Amino acid sequence: MNMDEKLHFADLSDLLLDWYAAAARELPWRIGPGARAKGVQPDPYRVWLAEIMLQQTTVPHATRYYLAFTERWPTVQDLAAAADEDVMAAWAGLGYYARARNLLKCAREVIAQGAWPDTVDGLCQLPGIGPYTAGAVAALAFGRQAAAVDGNVDRVFARLMALKGEWKTEKERLKGVVEALVPADRPAEFAEALMDLGATICTPKAPNCLICPLRELCAARAEGDPERYPIKPKKTAKPMRLGHVYVLTGQNRTVLTEQRPDKGLLGGMMGLPTSDWASEYPQPKFPSGANFESIGEVRHVFTHFALTLQVWRGEVDEPQLLTPLKKAADALPSVFAKALKLAVSSDR
Ligand code: ADE
Repeated sequence: MNMDEKLHFADLSDLLLDWYAAAARELPWRIGPGARAKGVQPDPYRVWLAEIMLQQTTVPHATRYYLAFTERWPTVQDLAAAADEDVMAAWAGLGYYARARNLLKCAREVIAQGAWPDTVDGLCQLPGIGPYTAGAVAALAFGRQAAAVDGNVDRVFARLMALKGEWKTEKERLKGVVEALVPADRPAEFAEALMDLGATICTPKAPNCLICPLRELCAARAEGDPERYPIKPKKTAKPMRLGHVYVLTGQNRTVLTEQRPDKGLLGGMMGLPTSDWASEYPQPKFPSGANFESIGEVRHVFTHFALTLQVWRGEVDEPQLLTPLKKAADALPSVFAKALKLAVSSDR
């Protein structure tokens, strides 16, 4: 941070922390400002678990999963001792299943080490923990003077500083500024306050500048069009992939499922049988002698491509090797859960 920035942002952390003391969101994983002031200590396991989930999804969606995980596995010891397939099934619907595998690896590594590392560098060595999560856990759980810079913080500072240059370079610069602004005595609240500001006021669309505690410091607001920031390069369209998915139901509300290979997309998760996924529809190859009918399509957007699967439904009499529908609906990743829902809800 240069001298001009230092002067310009001299009051930022006080303004932000005063606002946070009054406006903090109540979140199940959070030690709020009141409790923190009374000395309530955070549990690193819960802080970490919430951060991993929140990288993946919104606060309301993550909340359901967070509560289910912490009820079933209240401590990092419990999670480390869990069966892989139970954790994978409990993660179903959150997406990006490599995270769930890393979640388990990380819990087991912490148990092997005997304790959580309590520095950014130490945390970065653990599976699935990158610079953002390490900064967040170091600040929130261990009171380290670390910054947690994610997309929300990028947006807040891109606006505060009206950053117009090449986005990758600007992001680096902004990170340096945020790190220099973290107050030594209240790093956790500083990080949480920025999260809340980004989520509730400095929103991607229609930011509510009128009630923003930082409005007087905001260069984008002074210019008159904060929504134009951050200025990022245009995203290239995701490639499309096409395939077939087979919903083979048996008697007594059961469905044929399979365990997906450990490596690759949705690795280690429960799946429905599918064809390969390609740029054009492959020939369908049905998994048994049953008569299959085409009942529609489901779509799902993954990180690197968008998938459309044609859904086929068939029925067999034997109940062997089939999973109860309820269990499948709970454990299947979203794309398969959508196909299952279509197949069991559409008229026969
Ligand atoms: N986004 C990322 N981490 C978060 C947290 N701990 N609380 C609220 N929103 C978040």
